[in-house]
Amino acid sequence: MADALGIALVGCGTVGSGVVKLLREQPERLTRRAGRVLELRRVVVQDKLKLRSVEVPLHLLTDDFQTVLTDPQIEVVCELMGGTTTAKARVLAALAAGKHVVTANKALLADAGPEIFEAARNANRTICFEAAVAGGVPIIRALAESLAANQVTAIQAILNGTSNFILTAMAERGIPYSDALAEAQRLGFAEADPTLDVDGSDAAHKLAILAQIAFGVAAKPHEIERVGIEHVEAIDIRFATELGYAIKLLAEAWVAGGHVALHVAPVMVRKTDMLAQVRGSFNAIQLVGDVVGETLFQGPGAGMMPTASSVVADLIDLAVGRAQKTFEVAKLWSKETRGFSIEPSEKVRSRFYLRLMVIDQPGSLADVCHALAEQGISISSLVQHEAPEGNSLAVPLVIMTHYAETGKFRAAVIAIDRLPAIREPAVSYSVDD
Ligand code: HSE
Repeated sequence: MADALGIALVGCGTVGSGVVKLLREQPERLTRRAGRVLELRRVVVQDKLKLRSVEVPLHLLTDDFQTVLTDPQIEVVCELMGGTTTAKARVLAALAAGKHVVTANKALLADAGPEIFEAARNANRTICFEAAVAGGVPIIRALAESLAANQVTAIQAILNGTSNFILTAMAERGIPYSDALAEAQRLGFAEADPTLDVDGSDAAHKLAILAQIAFGVAAKPHEIERVGIEHVEAIDIRFATELGYAIKLLAEAWVAGGHVALHVAPVMVRKTDMLAQVRGSFNAIQLVGDVVGETLFQGPGAGMMPTASSVVADLIDLAVGRAQKTFEVAKLWSKETRGFSIEPSEKVRSRFYLRLMVIDQPGSLADVCHALAEQGISISSLVQHEAPEGNSLAVPLVIMTHYAETGKFRAAVIAIDRLPAIREPAVSYSVDD
């Protein structure tokens, strides 16, 4: 048998602990699959004395990253520390020292993909990142290898388990947003800073990675239009249910007129759609390929062992030599890759849900319809429940539109918000059909 594959972990939080546990509990299985022993040689942490959820042999623990760089028997550095500053410096140092890199760090790839992939190519080393998108769901390999004969035409994905958990809890149990968020944090799948989960940043980082593989688009996270779930209200979840839809935080990318449209936003999806049925903290990715048609991948998008499953699969692929081949031909974040350009969000066509709080008086509805008609937007349905006679308070008016350009819809909403009968800013969501 070939020599052992020497591994260093940098960071030993939830994911790192899962990797240590898997390497220690399944040595025979992993050796059989890798054709080499996967040997953990160093675990770099900030605090060696900190209590961890797995026991790490004391002689492996170090707070000195340099010992990893100078150990010739370490071939792979697993960056599992998170963050983008120190993590980036360590990834670049590991590559320069001739180590392959496995990372679960989606923010790092989305922010610094071109730089670190160029560094890897220059050093003739490989970066593997199955765990960076959708935790335990093998979506990177599916896209880069199994669907390689396809041009992907659309991706619709639930890529943030925390947001999906919160929206599911609000819809099914009627609990307020803040209680659902606190529960997600207690269960341990929220980021250290849960703002990144609920404001759509985490999903945007993951979408940027998928879009690079599927479309060759090098979108920086700030170029992906992003709306979070912080302002989703119970009233809209109720109206969505009444109309036959669920509200899901979707990361979407699709080919439109030779460009790729990209966004992360709460979107209304038909209740019968498979994505509407993805509950709790699960992730799901619906991919359409021009050869294969529609596919769906679903599974745990976070957590200790699901994410460790992906990290260790990368280690096995490096040990076998498969990862190096894929890395070489995929040419990710390379100047040689000519991908699609990004469709300006104003041009993206969609159906829309629009909820207004309107004073129930003659002409209110006519004014709203006029503002939509001025932008050429056609109404597909309209809901206003009967209000008590003589009611002088605002009532909800819900409008579903036919397909319209986002820019035109936004212009109509600006005009509607200025109408005297409108009492609160309009609430709107894209509707996927
Ligand atoms: N915090 C992320 C989520 C998991 O809730 O999906 C790690 O990417």
